[in-house]
Amino acid sequence: MRAFLGIALPADVRDAIASAIARVRGLRAPVAWTARENLHITLRFLGEIPPERVAPVERSMQAVADGTGPFFLTTDGGGTFPGTRNPRVFWVGILEPLELVRQLQQNMGDALSGVGFPPEDRPFHPHITVGRTRGTLPPAWGDRFVHALSGKGFGIVPVSSFTLYESRLGPGGPAYLPLCEFRLAGPGKREIREEKEP
Ligand code: 2AM
Repeated sequence: MRAFLGIALPADVRDAIASAIARVRGLRAPVAWTARENLHITLRFLGEIPPERVAPVERSMQAVADGTGPFFLTTDGGGTFPGTRNPRVFWVGILEPLELVRQLQQNMGDALSGVGFPPEDRPFHPHITVGRTRGTLPPAWGDRFVHALSGKGFGIVPVSSFTLYESRLGPGGPAYLPLCEFRLAGPGKREIREEKEP
């Protein structure tokens, strides 16, 4: 099965992104826009894995979640990969500071290495993919997209868990099925600070 690990977004954030994107969609361009229910933050794409690898992944991810405290992310503006001149992926951004989500993603990578997944060869840029180019875009389309979302926020994402998803590709686009949710059961940032202070 095709699998990935990601952070689910609350309905209000998905709604805010979908309504901002609705305006850009109206401009018509060959972009496959992400369905509202599919909006998420990818932490790690696992690719095709045989069913027998799911249990070790789940055990290793549970251990990471047990040692990680909940945190918040704030959505902000938009951008494109690889750049605005030749956009292939359109995304909504996450505001700095990103230490906590980076640490989580790093710990997940380390744990996955322990169960046989090679380390990722590209840096982690947390984002919410909202569309993918499916043809030749009109000129300056990337800049237009970034400009349309500039300075806009789409709400706060409380990260109290992450999820292992199966991605089923179909003619109407992918369907993401949650297989297992891992609650972040470690100490929160505030609790750590309180422990250190007399
Ligand atoms: P993205 O959101 O960063 O684009 C489910 O398919 C998720 O896995 C996607 O949202 C995508 O992350 C990521 N993904 C899909 N195919 C991938 C690939 N070949 N390499 C890395 N990540 C991939």
